[in-house]
Amino acid sequence: MCGTENQAATNGTTKHLSSPSSSTDVVLNLDHGDPTVYESYWKRIGEKCTVVIKGSELMSYISDVRKPCWFLEEKFESVIKRLHRLTGNAVVDDRYVVVGTGSTQLFQALLYAITTTDASLGGTGGGPDQLPVPVVCAAPYYSQYAEETDYLRSGLYKWAGDAYAFDKDGPYIEVVTSPNNPDGTTREAVVIHNGDQGKVLYDMAYYWPQYTPITRPADHDIMYFTFSKSTGHAGSRIGWALVKDEAIARKMTKFIELSSIGVSKDSQIRAAKIMEVICEDYQDFKHHQNSNHFFEYARKLMENRWKRLREVVARSNVFSLPKYSQEYCLFHGECTESYPAFAWLKCKEEGVEDCEKLLQEYKILGRGGKRFGSDPSYARVSILSREEVFQQFLERLEIIKGNTN
Ligand SMILES: Cc1ncc(COP(=O)(O)O)c(C=O)c1O
Repeated sequence: MCGTENQAATNGTTKHLSSPSSSTDVVLNLDHGDPTVYESYWKRIGEKCTVVIKGSELMSYISDVRKPCWFLEEKFESVIKRLHRLTGNAVVDDRYVVVGTGSTQLFQALLYAITTTDASLGGTGGGPDQLPVPVVCAAPYYSQYAEETDYLRSGLYKWAGDAYAFDKDGPYIEVVTSPNNPDGTTREAVVIHNGDQGKVLYDMAYYWPQYTPITRPADHDIMYFTFSKSTGHAGSRIGWALVKDEAIARKMTKFIELSSIGVSKDSQIRAAKIMEVICEDYQDFKHHQNSNHFFEYARKLMENRWKRLREVVARSNVFSLPKYSQEYCLFHGECTESYPAFAWLKCKEEGVEDCEKLLQEYKILGRGGKRFGSDPSYARVSILSREEVFQQFLERLEIIKGNTN
């Protein structure tokens, strides 16, 4: 788990800042992006998404041995393609689909697939003496990439930090997160390299119409998405990759086979049902603007949260937030702004160097800039909590005043 509850806030005060509110306040854990914000929508939907699985069903490990990803459920594959066609956020034709236990597993499967040299699996790399392939991402980057890459001390790849600072020759892997976690920006690859030795992985967890304008269908060779951030069902642990190269799809499948012999079919069927309900609701395009439809509802919700957050930050002389320009969204058919899943708060108060620590004094758990390869004057705070937690967060942010007040 990313952050832990026992990182509980200290109750210290900083000389030039007003004191935290009542000590009975609970700690607001906004350290990780647990997407409970969408619970309200799915409660309204009620029984429509209920899935019943008989004791005799989904028992086999296998779904379809003719496919490179032999544990991929047919229904899941067809519904994710339908959802991408509906939102217009990714090209799905001529792609292999690989399902994973969250996109966390897919990221690791991709590192393995790209760097493994086993010829029987379609590997093309060097021999057993090859050096670990550097893995980079432009800072500020999603903090988990570093931990996931180095956790098992693989001999195949190793974390090499900020892509802007990378200048080595030879093979490398660049991860592009777009929109980016933590700062919500739209991104492209940044490593400029001689030759054709780099592979780019596009982590598109937040390329959905509630977070950002959909400006074109993403058309990369390797891209992956997650059920966690698209619909909010993080607990099902489902992600999927769309890859052009069959050999990569097969090697990813091998990795998942070795680590978990496939991916829960129960989860794939549940995910398929939920995404099918979303698609069915959009069947009648006359009602595209209907706020009962998931992506309209979710966008309004995110827009409302960002409006309230920006109002509080505008009154603050301690914090600032990134600005996002408007772009035409092909899905919504209008110009929209970005409403990222996280607030990338900058503490601009002179003499306060550690934004995470400052928030902790007010019992707000965020994640400090250093973890993202950035400056400690930044902290990332989740916007995806339940409403009451978000409201408390705003109230606490409001009372943090600088000494110039
Ligand atoms: C950019 C990014 N990639 C991947 C993940 C992991 O998602 P999953 O729940 O699918 O493992 C997250 C989760 O916060 C994320 O922000």
